[in-house]
Amino acid sequence: MILVCGGIKGGVGKTTLATSMVVLRSATGRDVLLVDADDQATATDFTAVRTESLTSAGYTSIQLHGAAVRNEVLKLAPKYDDIVIDVGGRDTAGQRAALLVADVYVVPFLPGSFDVWTLDSVGTLVEEAKAFNDKLKAVCVINRADAKGSDNQDAAEIASEIPGLVYIDAPLGNRKAFRAAAAQGLAVTEMKPQDAKAISELNRLFQHLFSI
Ligand SMILES: Nc1ncnc2c1ncn2[C@@H]1O[C@H](COP(=O)(O)OP(=O)(O)O)[C@@H](O)[C@H]1O
Ligand SMILES: [Mg+2]
Repeated sequence: MILVCGGIKGGVGKTTLATSMVVLRSATGRDVLLVDADDQATATDFTAVRTESLTSAGYTSIQLHGAAVRNEVLKLAPKYDDIVIDVGGRDTAGQRAALLVADVYVVPFLPGSFDVWTLDSVGTLVEEAKAFNDKLKAVCVINRADAKGSDNQDAAEIASEIPGLVYIDAPLGNRKAFRAAAAQGLAVTEMKPQDAKAISELNRLFQHLFSI
């Protein structure tokens, strides 16, 4: 499967999602390729930190930009069981190229912010891509969900109405564990001490995304 973590906002959890999905998927024994299509190369940094502490990341990581995201991924797809592409937080040629080869496109967004309104433009991007890629399934999910209050629910309601995107109910909470794990090049499932809630949320999202 080709999974793209995208959207047109920075700092919403695209890289956290992409790297976590790669780690969880490769832990099931599959040969996974992580494609870093963001100029800021955060996913590549994650893999570098990870390789230093674990000696082997457990997956292959490359950087691609622009049209190469489509062309190279098409060439590499037969060589891997799954490919996860992390894109930058803007509407770039790389993100559009990724949408042309994606099976699943997941867009994280934060509740209680203007984020949810940027989903409209993402929905338009998806509808355009679907004209060239009819297998594309696009979903959005809440990241850094609030522990309490009505913001999650409000954001979920708005997200459910966006044409082109399906809202999935598998939020990740706003938890220190996600930040701490990423800083060590790990997914929360690999971190000690374990944060049971973070692990359960991540597993739930993983199940959702890889069963679409
Ligand atoms: N669920 C979460 N809880 C707490 N911090 C998070 C969560 N998801 C992401 N972060 C932190 O937010 C920052 C931005 O996340 P990142 O995945 O780099 O976003 P993006 O790739 O969309 O720019 C990082 O410091 C990351 O560790
Ligand atoms: Mg990123």
